[in-house]
Amino acid sequence: MDECCGAQSPEGYEEVFDARFAGKAARRYRRKGLTPTERRLVGFLSSTGIEDASVLEVGGGIGEIQLELLARGAARTTNLELSGAYEADAGRLIDEAGVGDRVTRILGVDLATSPEAVDRADVVVLHRVVCCYPEYERLLGAAADRALRTVVFTHPPRTIRTRAMVGLGNLMGRLSGRAYRGFVHSPDAMADVVRRHGFELRYRHRGLSWCVVGAVRG
Ligand SMILES: C[S@@+](CC[C@H](N)C(=O)[O-])C[C@H]1O[C@@H](n2cnc3c(N)ncnc32)[C@H](O)[C@@H]1O
Repeated sequence: MDECCGAQSPEGYEEVFDARFAGKAARRYRRKGLTPTERRLVGFLSSTGIEDASVLEVGGGIGEIQLELLARGAARTTNLELSGAYEADAGRLIDEAGVGDRVTRILGVDLATSPEAVDRADVVVLHRVVCCYPEYERLLGAAADRALRTVVFTHPPRTIRTRAMVGLGNLMGRLSGRAYRGFVHSPDAMADVVRRHGFELRYRHRGLSWCVVGAVRG
């Protein structure tokens, strides 16, 4: 299991989260809509009130969560990504939804190291992202500080199964010379970061593959 060791490079992310990964996500979303975990995350945000909210999504990929939040009344969304491979698919989905004037996509800004580069938003979302980032404390702390009202993130449960899967993926990555590493951070330690930055936990769902944590400013 890889432990924390400093941020990964954008190139490292793009090697793994490439055009193929993006195309698969876009095809899946067009065919089936949100995944069950994404539906829970959007459900939590809807329950806290998303009408007219500004949304910042860190590592938002093709941006399907943002499209659904805009359809539910969010005012505007900003997507931060370290991989440029999603842009073509994201652009097509944005055009199809007719929301181009409400979506901003920013490439190459790492919120953990440059938090001031991004405007604050009512809601900050990190779906399947903290497990791709070594320094969860820095990333989640920056995300919480950018959130005016609500922060929600997902992470894998810290089980023997997920640790073995991520460990095996990292071993294969190392053997094939890839820079990207995955992480199974401690769920309680991640929740504590959000609490220490002024939030109260309001929602916790523990799934087999993904857990959802939702918190509002206390
Ligand atoms: C597993 S993918 C998830 C993408 C999308 N959220 C989804 O569920 O399909 C993780 C993404 O997080 C991005 N990422 C990781 N750390 C990031 C950071 N500090 N700032 C912005 N994006 C980041 C990576 O580039 C990658 O595209």
